[in-house]
Amino acid sequence: MLSGGHKGPKRGSLSLPGTEAGIAAMAACYKGFDPAAYLQYNYTAPRADFERQDSIVPWKLGCLHRAFTEGDVSGEVLVDIGSGPTLYQVLSGCEVFSKVLLTDFLEVNRQELKRWLQGQGGDSIDWTPYLQHVCKLEGRRYDQISARLRLVVSDVLPIDVHRPQPLARDALPSAGADCLVSSFCLESVSPDFPAFKRALIHIQGLLRPGGHLLLIGALGESYYLGGPGIKIPVVPLDEAQVCASLKESGFTLIRLEVYVLPADMRVGVDDVSGVFFVKARKD
Ligand SMILES: C[S@@+](CC[C@H](N)C(=O)[O-])C[C@H]1O[C@@H](n2cnc3c(N)ncnc32)[C@H](O)[C@@H]1O
Repeated sequence: MLSGGHKGPKRGSLSLPGTEAGIAAMAACYKGFDPAAYLQYNYTAPRADFERQDSIVPWKLGCLHRAFTEGDVSGEVLVDIGSGPTLYQVLSGCEVFSKVLLTDFLEVNRQELKRWLQGQGGDSIDWTPYLQHVCKLEGRRYDQISARLRLVVSDVLPIDVHRPQPLARDALPSAGADCLVSSFCLESVSPDFPAFKRALIHIQGLLRPGGHLLLIGALGESYYLGGPGIKIPVVPLDEAQVCASLKESGFTLIRLEVYVLPADMRVGVDDVSGVFFVKARKD
């Protein structure tokens, strides 16, 4: 089922002119993406309020912590797909994997990540509360986690999930990565649901059979702000679409968790209604 499903979308993405145009239009939207503004909108209070149980970021960090520490996710290579300017999504995973690759489509985001990794200063956000929160969850020391992250992130690479081969061919071992993480990427970079599903198949190709996918994404979202006046369209997803897409792409769902946004987390930077967290395994 998987190989047949894999070939179809690849051919389809080449033969549908509307799809090509849609993908080009999405890339054009991202020209105005402003990492500092995006971080301010989504990664400060109230969305990142570590004193509140119901804030989005602590919820995501809790899901990632549980998924990485249950004992079934293992191997050497972890790849984060569409990292953006954020690091929170690999704070738990960097303890489990000895090599972590961060990736993004935009050079501005790759630069933001490299600044922190190289300790250059000038970061657009202070990751300290994030590191402290994960330390509390995992019983690690603050200096251990930041040093570990800087040690195991071996590169920050360009990626395009709309290509059948999203990363440079020699970026990964021939068997593929052992685990993929991806947060708010596929639905935020695809012009429509079929393109979202093809992107999921493309990233599935980066993973070894039996490897895990930890996927975080928006539910019911039609746009978000990538900076002042930069309205980026999003494919509005529901839980059934997420589950069906995973199955069609050759994944077995282990767990789906859903977070519903409290009214005061709706801060005018998007129209998201909820967030899903998926733990799945490649067949
Ligand atoms: C909504 S942001 C998510 C960032 C981060 N992962 C997070 O959790 O906040 C979407 C990211 O996808 C990246 N992106 C845009 N087009 C892409 C493409 N074709 N392939 C992969 N990533 C892309 C953007 O540069 C941006 O960093």
